[in-house]
Amino acid sequence: MQTLLIVLIGLHILAGVFWAGSTFAVARSGGAGAQTLFRPQMGAATITVLAGIGLWGILHRGAMGPMEHTLALGALCAIAAAGVQGATHRKNPLKGQRIAAGLLAVAVICMAIARFVGF
Ligand code: HEM
Repeated sequence: MQTLLIVLIGLHILAGVFWAGSTFAVARSGGAGAQTLFRPQMGAATITVLAGIGLWGILHRGAMGPMEHTLALGALCAIAAAGVQGATHRKNPLKGQRIAAGLLAVAVICMAIARFVGF
């Protein structure tokens, strides 16, 4: 179980850092690389969400305290970011990446502070 946790947290954070980091970079550089990075971003989003669900199942199943509320808010923002990126990548990728960047910033902060909320 400990090995599974280590693998899941490693995948979750590595994929999440790539997804959020590349989104910030594209949003900040006027949309440069948006098309090239779209598929890798969606791949990273899939790994992040699946590993996050796995972590939730192992560490937080059945619990609903301040930490879980904070994680859930971050997860919802992350899922919304993926939806926005998917819906806008053909017609207006820069706008989509900018909106997703804001949502992913909230997601990353929620993930990082969750264990200290209500502590
Ligand atoms: C649907 C999306 C997501 C779900 C369901 C999810 C779920 C989780 C869960 C359950 C944990 C474990 C918390 C614990 O240690 O008990 C976690 C940790 C973490 N997540 Fe996410 N997450 C999602 C998206 C993201 C994204 C987009 C990022 C961006 C980088 C991210 C970054 C992190 C980080 C850095 C941690 C470690 C926090 C710590 O140990 O202090 N997550 N996530």
